[in-house]
Amino acid sequence: MKTRRSIRRFKADPIPDSVIEEILTTATFAPSAHNRQPWRFAVLTELSAKTLLAESMAKNFQQELENEHISPEEISSRVTRSKDRILSAPLVVILSVDMSEMDKYPDRRRKKAEFIMATQSAANAGMQLLLAAHAEGLGGVWVCSPLFAQETVQEVLNLPKSWEPQAMFLLGYPAENPQVRERKPMSEVLLTVDSRP
Ligand SMILES: Cc1cc2nc3c(=O)[nH]c(=O)nc-3n(C[C@H](O)[C@H](O)[C@H](O)COP(=O)(O)O)c2cc1C
Repeated sequence: MKTRRSIRRFKADPIPDSVIEEILTTATFAPSAHNRQPWRFAVLTELSAKTLLAESMAKNFQQELENEHISPEEISSRVTRSKDRILSAPLVVILSVDMSEMDKYPDRRRKKAEFIMATQSAANAGMQLLLAAHAEGLGGVWVCSPLFAQETVQEVLNLPKSWEPQAMFLLGYPAENPQVRERKPMSEVLLTVDSRP
């Protein structure tokens, strides 16, 4: 777990289907609220599918950046970079959450709690997917952009209506060996309640 890094550069080598199946299956052994397993995965390996996704998301991204009045050069460089990242990954997995089998509540407070529980469960599967990929000698990175383009991703991949895109995983054999990113000292994130007066 401590040797996993976010990998953003990949060799072109394809990932065997059996390995893809194994890491996705391992992801589904994550814990989930009420064991409802609200994670859903869409898998893209073909260039045509990745191009469709990359171009639709790029259009969306470009529009967002234009609304922020960023210079055309900066927009073009950021949009191209995000498109190239998708195209250069041998495997792209879109992780969605599906609320249809979660508990239903009439009030906003509990509805929100149930939604958070479902997204926490889906995130567990995402983390497990990255660790399973690492165990197979693959590298990967969690990318949050589908959250900002949920409708676009849903439409272009023709996902079932109840699938709400949450994240994208870019995966492949690593072509980089990044340094460990700094971690906050434990003293900053840990409170030992027992030792307090
Ligand atoms: C919810 C979430 C969203 C992330 N979104 C992105 C992203 O959009 N682009 C990216 O390059 N990395 C993204 N990352 C990866 C983080 O930047 C990375 O995990 C962090 O810098 C620590 O580095 P490490 O994973 O190598 O330990 C995301 C990670 C998480 C958990």
